[in-house]
Amino acid sequence: MEREIRWGIIGPGNIARKFTSDLQMVDNAKIAAVASRNLERAKSFASDYHIENIFDSYDHLFTSDTVDVVYIATPHNFHKDLAIRAMKNGKHVLCEKPLGINKKEVEEIIQASRENNVFMMEGLWSRFNPSIHKIKELVDSKEIGEVTYINADFAFYGLDRSEDSRVLNLDLASGSLLDIGIYPIFLAYLFLGMPDEIHASSNFHSNGTEIQTSMIFQYPNAQAILYSGLTSDSKMEAKISGTKGEVVIPTRWHEADGYSLIKQKEIQKFELPRKGNGFVHEILEVHKCLVSNKLKSNLWSHKNSLELVELMDIIRNKTGIKFPFEV
Ligand SMILES: NC(=O)c1ccc[n+]([C@@H]2O[C@H](COP(=O)([O-])OP(=O)(O)OC[C@H]3O[C@@H](n4cnc5c(N)ncnc54)[C@H](OP(=O)(O)O)[C@@H]3O)[C@@H](O)[C@H]2O)c1
Repeated sequence: MEREIRWGIIGPGNIARKFTSDLQMVDNAKIAAVASRNLERAKSFASDYHIENIFDSYDHLFTSDTVDVVYIATPHNFHKDLAIRAMKNGKHVLCEKPLGINKKEVEEIIQASRENNVFMMEGLWSRFNPSIHKIKELVDSKEIGEVTYINADFAFYGLDRSEDSRVLNLDLASGSLLDIGIYPIFLAYLFLGMPDEIHASSNFHSNGTEIQTSMIFQYPNAQAILYSGLTSDSKMEAKISGTKGEVVIPTRWHEADGYSLIKQKEIQKFELPRKGNGFVHEILEVHKCLVSNKLKSNLWSHKNSLELVELMDIIRNKTGIKFPFEV
């Protein structure tokens, strides 16, 4: 039997619940500890997931010897400091997307992983989605020829959220780009790499939060048309088109349960259901890396996280997306 991996949950909010319920489905994963800024919240989470070790401070969990790896699920702007503090205490880290707010933050996180000799990965879960994984293999084997066009979006109506929520509160790095725009950008990056040029335009809420961003990634022989927004819902279908065929990822593409391959007007549909909420696949990747003493994943590497945030920095510079805590 492979060794048990002890997980600690940092920030038991919305996504931590979905992630932790998936942890329950993974062999050798022990949900060992939870930390909240509020003891009652930690206790309630612990009771729902039968967690033995309960902490009313993130640092108390980092300095304890109850876990091997922490899952950081706080708003984006806390990721860097928490990831670094966890790693300084010898903990491996899986940190929710976006890993950092900007390239400088991501560089610091990567450096801490190297200095402390611990595993670190951004929780870009769509990279491990079975459909996207399979489509990557198909595209790499030239099943649809050369990719010349990608179209993907991520949008939901978020303007009814509280202005204190992380979606609309600038102090919590609000806006669509870092939260959900990261997914279409990831898709273009996965299949076409770094673009030569980026065109982008944003609209803003009266409080300064970016609420819509359209992007065109320009490559020598391809274009990607991407969008993220909080002003409307979207069906969220993605297309990867090539000289010999097309792949369509049906709604919602970032957590797909299958895909269609269209060649010479013939449509073939493939079903590839996610396990659980879809986090099982990234959890298995973390386990695989930890068991083989790797400090990073080959499927979503430190370089990948760095290049992804570089793309978001370029878009932010072009469209004027700024946060008050950045100088
Ligand atoms: N992979 C995905 O599909 C997915 C989906 C949604 C979100 N996410 C990512 O997951 C992260 C968390 O998102 P979420 O929607 O789960 O967030 P959330 O529910 O708003 O917050 C998560 C937790 O962060 C902690 N927190 C620490 N400092 C905070 C502060 N100053 N204000 C508010 N909360 C604070 C809180 O826990 P305590 O106070 O109890 O410590 C809170 O419960 C984000 O980075 C987001 O991008 C990923």
